Amino acid sequence: MTKEMNRREFLKASAATGAMVLAGDMVKGGMRLAYGAVKIPEVEKAMVTVITDNYYDALKQHYKVAKRYGMGIKPGADPYKINLHAEHGLSYHVETVLSGNPHSFLFDYGVDFQGVSRNMELLNIDFRAVEALGLSHGHFDHWGAFLEILKSKKEEFRKGTPLYMGEEGFVERFAQMPGGVLSLGQLKREDVERLGFIKIVEIKDPTPIVPGAYLTGSIERVTEYEKGSPYLLIERGGKLVPDNFIGEYAVVLNLKGKGLIVLVGCAHPGIVNIVKHAQKMTGIDKVHAVMGGFHLTGAKPEFIQRTVADIKAINPDYIVPTHCTGYEAITIFEREMPGQFILNTAGTRYLFTV
Ligand SMILES: [Fe+2]
Ligand SMILES: [Fe+2]
Repeated sequence: MTKEMNRREFLKASAATGAMVLAGDMVKGGMRLAYGAVKIPEVEKAMVTVITDNYYDALKQHYKVAKRYGMGIKPGADPYKINLHAEHGLSYHVETVLSGNPHSFLFDYGVDFQGVSRNMELLNIDFRAVEALGLSHGHFDHWGAFLEILKSKKEEFRKGTPLYMGEEGFVERFAQMPGGVLSLGQLKREDVERLGFIKIVEIKDPTPIVPGAYLTGSIERVTEYEKGSPYLLIERGGKLVPDNFIGEYAVVLNLKGKGLIVLVGCAHPGIVNIVKHAQKMTGIDKVHAVMGGFHLTGAKPEFIQRTVADIKAINPDYIVPTHCTGYEAITIFEREMPGQFILNTAGTRYLFTV
């Protein structure tokens, strides 16, 4: 399918479903949108594959909407050759069906090229069907393998595939460690441009990645306690300052009759802020699933308790804390939300249907 056809189909789908967004005001620490500013269309189906994550369990059984990739998935296959790679990283493949039409995109890309690309092969990711790319934020554990994956699949990607990302996605990041300041690396704009087939689209407002899937744009900060880490730094004006992650965005889907599906990268703006922003942005309060890294590893117990209590009050049908959520918070989510909690393992496919 040509780029022009994609664009035309997208415009047609947007018009048909009334997908639209009204501009909001940028406020300190995020975007203030009117309630229901985005008329997000309803998808009939969403399949989210977690390509890589911090944890893998080849023996874990299917559970509710989670279809596992493990031993026995390919009968007769050599078990040495079908194991998945797990790492400190996150990567999603998302497929949706809107008005009977399938769409797909990638969101975040993990770190290790060999491991992530092998997982993509084992999980049968169809690069020819990928219409768009999204990046949650500028940390290496979400883009580390990006350039090499794209280079290796250059023949399969469509010319002009858009890469949607927020502000400061190309700025070098740092972490204050006990022994000094550590560079976390930098995704360079020129390296992405040099690939020759990617169209960089930097956004601030909510924007559809594919029909029926929105990238939030800048997250409005509403909780009083989700203030971010003083140890995660960004270079601004030649100085290292605490990173407010103004450009970290999440993916939002609206599953027909079930509510919102929210996918996050690291949730540095705060997972409660992100979910509340998704609710306000769409004017839809019912949340079906919240999934991704909630960045609670190493957080103080009171902070974790407060976060879990607020997510519990939002009452999603499924809560899937992955990646940088950390063991302590994951186990508290499991204890506090037993009917809703799903433990992710790399390679799991979440099949959300109406
Ligand atoms: Fe992360
Ligand atoms: Fe991060």
